[in-house]
Amino acid sequence: MSALNSTAMASTLLRSTVFFFFFTFLLVTDIAYSQSFIGINYGQVADNLPPPSSTAKLLQSTSIEKVRLYGADPAIIKALANTGIGIVIGAANGDIPALASDPNFAKNWVNANVAPFYPASKIILITVGNEVITSNDQNLMNQLVPAIQNLQNALDSMSLGNDIKISTVHSMAVLRQSEPPSSGLFHPDYMSVLKGLLEFNNATGSPFTINPYPYFAYQSDPRPDTLAFCLFEPNAGRIDTNTNIKYMNMFDAQVDAIRSALNAMGFKNVEIVVAETGWPYKGDGDEVGPSLENAKAFNGNLIAHLRSMVGTPLMPGKSVDTYLFALYDEDLKPGPGSERAFGLFKPDLTMAYDVGLSKNGQSTPISSAPANPSTKAPTSPKPKAGGGGSWCVPKGGVSDDQLQANLDYACGGGLDCSAIQPAGACFEPNTLASHAAYAMNLFFQTAGGDPSTCDFSQSATLSSNNPSYNGCNYPGGGRT
Ligand SMILES: *[C@@H]1O[C@H](CO)[C@@H](O)[C@H](O)[C@H]1NC(C)=O
Repeated sequence: MSALNSTAMASTLLRSTVFFFFFTFLLVTDIAYSQSFIGINYGQVADNLPPPSSTAKLLQSTSIEKVRLYGADPAIIKALANTGIGIVIGAANGDIPALASDPNFAKNWVNANVAPFYPASKIILITVGNEVITSNDQNLMNQLVPAIQNLQNALDSMSLGNDIKISTVHSMAVLRQSEPPSSGLFHPDYMSVLKGLLEFNNATGSPFTINPYPYFAYQSDPRPDTLAFCLFEPNAGRIDTNTNIKYMNMFDAQVDAIRSALNAMGFKNVEIVVAETGWPYKGDGDEVGPSLENAKAFNGNLIAHLRSMVGTPLMPGKSVDTYLFALYDEDLKPGPGSERAFGLFKPDLTMAYDVGLSKNGQSTPISSAPANPSTKAPTSPKPKAGGGGSWCVPKGGVSDDQLQANLDYACGGGLDCSAIQPAGACFEPNTLASHAAYAMNLFFQTAGGDPSTCDFSQSATLSSNNPSYNGCNYPGGGRT
């Protein structure tokens, strides 16, 4: 999806759809909502992993809906049968030459790794190779698209080509330039291979899959400001001087840099999928950044950001499919200590730390079912742990573009925004800032007052000051 230049109607439809689903899952009690945009990586470089059947049960107890394997372990694929969990499987870099040169090898690959399990096991994507473009192996790079095409032909010949997509995973190093996000550009050395790849993505509707790690961005610039920006914590923001968009977190900035690079090559319709992102909860003494506190903040805030459905400034109103890294620690991985400390769950299936993924009793749930979304003034929200305030307001310095996006998003999906229309009690002052502020708070209150719905691309915050004025009543109230 490219929200950048989609037509007004398409974007209204999209927002309505998003909004509809948003409230659909909010309205289901017991928090049994669908969050297809949350996935997780299941790496197996470890000697202490629980049996696949236990992992399948664990995943079903969470709001994780997709799992990415690096290979195609049949035991895991089978264990996930009839769970409804989407599965990404991978062909290794070492398979690329044979896949590229031999159509029969590609057919055999599908026969061995897909056909026996599908559709009971819901394989949705095959990644061919990992970070091949930045491997500096010219031979492998040149074989990548032919390998992918042969695999696609094999899927097509079994009538699976529309249901199962094929892509390859990139590191952020495919970008030559990523700051500011609007100037994102791919490295010229990779352009010719990327062009062939993107033509394939575009033709088959498969995503561009990328590994953005705010963690590594912080390591290369370890200042407190950068840490807050990377952890989705309060910070001054970073203005993209080309667009005047103020970015409030590194994740959005990285994803939008990729969006800009794709758009610059003319591929505005190729979707982005985040194949990996994460933060280690411990590391060696000389590593900057790993800690339980930081890992919990990054993953918890990322999940809340995705759940808010605000999207990124260049792709508003939609959450990018994001595969968290990772399900378990991989104790046999080489490298610094942090490499073995990305796991969100322990081998005994308990949480390494709580980021709100559990379906039952999660600590950061989308808490209560809202009143009927069309109800103008919902009942007062539940008091929130930690206090802080009861109204959702824009942060200072938010750009007009962002305010407009927030306004469109909040009112585009069926909320009653008549108060800010002409003759409404909150029409005056007739300014974007005032109308957006009203709409954002209404959205937040209607969603039951859960803090994660007062995000709006990190452009909103909770306030204990009632913004109501004259005859204009902001729903909310009840200071905590
Ligand atoms: C992407 O695919 C569409 C539909 O098949 C096609 O019209 C368009 O030209 C393609 N875009 C590029 C940049 O190749």
